[in-house]
Amino acid sequence: MNNFKYKNPTKILFGKGQMENLAEEIPEKAKVLLLYGGGSIKKNGIYDQVKRATQEFDVIEFGGIPANPEYEILLRALEVIRTEKITFMLAVGGGSVLDGAKFLSAAALYHGDTPWDLLTQKTPTTKGLPFGTVLTLPATGSEMNSGAVITREETKEKLAMGGPGLFPVFSVLDPQVIVSLPQRQLANGIADAFNHVLEQYITYPVGASLQDRMAESVLQTLIEVAPAIMKDPTNYTAASNFMWSCTMALNGILPVGVPTDWAVHAIGHELTALYGIDHARTLAVIAPSHYRYNLASKKEKLAQYAERVWNITDGTLEERAKLGIEHTEQFFHELGIKTKLSEYTKEFQGTAQVLSKRFTDRGWLGLGEHRSLSPSDVGKIVEMAY
Ligand code: NZQ
Ligand code: ZN
Repeated sequence: MNNFKYKNPTKILFGKGQMENLAEEIPEKAKVLLLYGGGSIKKNGIYDQVKRATQEFDVIEFGGIPANPEYEILLRALEVIRTEKITFMLAVGGGSVLDGAKFLSAAALYHGDTPWDLLTQKTPTTKGLPFGTVLTLPATGSEMNSGAVITREETKEKLAMGGPGLFPVFSVLDPQVIVSLPQRQLANGIADAFNHVLEQYITYPVGASLQDRMAESVLQTLIEVAPAIMKDPTNYTAASNFMWSCTMALNGILPVGVPTDWAVHAIGHELTALYGIDHARTLAVIAPSHYRYNLASKKEKLAQYAERVWNITDGTLEERAKLGIEHTEQFFHELGIKTKLSEYTKEFQGTAQVLSKRFTDRGWLGLGEHRSLSPSDVGKIVEMAY
């Protein structure tokens, strides 16, 4: 097991009715900017609950943050923060709204000329404008981590940012919010969280027994609750296990002391930027090819995954590893998620070359847990996923 430092300052308010405790978490006399997305919160009652809970505060609203939060729209919110002298933000939504809040948190205190540099220069943000969140879509883990992914339509880019100053102060996690989620978003949430675990687990063994078993338990829990959630999101027991699994998948606990990969996400973000494919679906497209392409370096962990998560005990190590990948693909299919790029866009030809070039131009020359995947390897993985 490798050395690590671990700190997570986000306070979690988990369970039914936690919205009622929201006001206690917001600093007294705060001037609050309420951030939300395309309007789902106005249809499902979450907006009304938040308004009730925050009635003692001076609250200004900024809605319309789209899925894959768009830089240009966020710049408008930044203007509001400045002109209204906002002191606290409350992000109500899924990963997109929460990530938008993180960008704004960093941009509000940023002294450079153009806030896009926060994305391109990768300087970690150590201090941001404080914000809390009310999560409406379990998936990304953004509610308890300090990362964000921002899209720029103009240049078809989607880049990540983060830093220790970008943890939410608190996050309200009421699993009942999932009842209004469409099937597509439920499936996305399960697949995204599942891939988060894989990125931190399907690497190579370092003798981190507890980390491995924690990763496996999150995977097993997701597999167990997936059919129940998809059939009936009002099943509170399943919903609560689903929501907490998604948070645990990406709150910084699983990667301590172990190598991590993240190549699937790096490649997946490009597919969203180019073709607008839902984030989780890009992962389901890339992950199987990525694991097949890197079978030699990942086979020990793949075989362990196959054995402990999918109960595959027969065959050689390599056969078990391959079956683990097949079961993963099958799991995505059972969620109604397609796993080939050509099933999402007719323009798939040439994607491998575009990505290879983009990664070369950006100097992303070594991806994966060994930092050994070159832009040409990336191209081959993408081609395998056509
Ligand atoms: O915009 P509204 O109207 O609210 O509708 C949203 C949106 O259309 C809807 N929705 C959310 N909660 C709902 C609901 N509809 C009905 N009932 C509810 N309770 O769902 C749609 C998708 O929302 P979005 O926030 O985009 O989804 P998700 O949570 O999957 O977030 C995806 C974004 O997060 C980034 C992704 O790249 C993508 O941009 N990620 C962020 C990460 C992080 N910060 O750690 C890690 C992830 O790997 C990921 O990259
Ligand atoms: Zn993800």
